[in-house]
Amino acid sequence: MTETVAVIPGDGIGHEVVPATLRVLDAVVDLEFVHVEAGDAVAERTGEPLPEETVEAVVDADATLFGATGETSADVILPLRDAVDSFVNVRPARTYPGVDALRPETDLVILRENTEGVYAGIENRLSEGVSTLTRLVTRSASRRLGEFACDYVDANGHDGFTVAHKNNVMRVTDGLFVDSVADVAAAHGVDIDTQYMDAMATELGLNPAEYDVIVCPNLAGDMLSDLAAGLVGGLGLLPSANVGSERGIFEPVHGCAPDIAGEGVANPTAAILSGAMLLEFLDHDGAAADVRAAVESTLAAGPRTPDLGGSANTEAFADAVIERLPET
Ligand code: NAI
Ligand code: MG
Repeated sequence: MTETVAVIPGDGIGHEVVPATLRVLDAVVDLEFVHVEAGDAVAERTGEPLPEETVEAVVDADATLFGATGETSADVILPLRDAVDSFVNVRPARTYPGVDALRPETDLVILRENTEGVYAGIENRLSEGVSTLTRLVTRSASRRLGEFACDYVDANGHDGFTVAHKNNVMRVTDGLFVDSVADVAAAHGVDIDTQYMDAMATELGLNPAEYDVIVCPNLAGDMLSDLAAGLVGGLGLLPSANVGSERGIFEPVHGCAPDIAGEGVANPTAAILSGAMLLEFLDHDGAAADVRAAVESTLAAGPRTPDLGGSANTEAFADAVIERLPET
């Protein structure tokens, strides 16, 4: 049976990197794409950044490929992550031969809690000059992340994981987060260590090879993954998967890059590698491996996009990846 994939380019370079990714996916497997809209442009036209039809398409599809949206992102991606109950955001960060990286030894995965923390959307304006935000942490979401992390380290041959937190300051919320994750790890016999997230930011910059799998609350995962992007060669390289029990949304870590949007020079690597994660989620492991290998050898040999010092445009990079795929 042909799986359906909801496709949301979003705004800006989403309209460049997503079509490039669809061409790559098309070259390796047969998928039915359902094209829907979300983001700033559709909000400007209709007043609604996330049309109901888009939510329905995402819920009905076997998986979703998402580009990036702009200022309406919080109104789009957060409800979509909820709609498919994606409780973890998987963000691998590694370097590639041929890509100039600050820290070439970096090879890690961030498993980010994806539903709560300070991104739970509980904000209030108490008066003109006073506002509050409620940080939501539940044992159930923290344990679910812990379970995922234990399965992930077992499946991928890792020794254990590091939990990033700040339970010396956010004693109640991060206290619950760390204790819940640690309980699950102990029950699975998985080794963990814990580290304050601010200290981790320094250590990540200085000694990224010390890290393998990082488990962290929502905002920390957002920030640490952008930091990791800086270590490996930029945001154009980092894919991500929002994984729920039955559905997934696959998206580059980067945003819609208004500074380069429309020029056709965005690096589609992050989106294409998100497509590879989508293929794996749909059990097309061989096709996913082929796409990864083709991206790697293209990055190594060129052509490369301007963010990596090259002069190729988005389409030329995608063409080079497609040329390196095995004949089907
Ligand atoms: P950004 O990721 O869009 O851009 C940051 C920098 O990285 C820019 O200089 C950009 O040109 C560069 N960059 C990003 N992706 C690239 C690629 N594929 N190839 C080459 N260069 C790339 O982050 P920024 O500037 O903070 O946000 C821009 C807009 O995107 C904002 O409206 C923000 O709300 C939105 N955003 C949306 C996200 C989402 O849809 N999930 C995630 C992050 C930001
Ligand atoms: Mg981010």
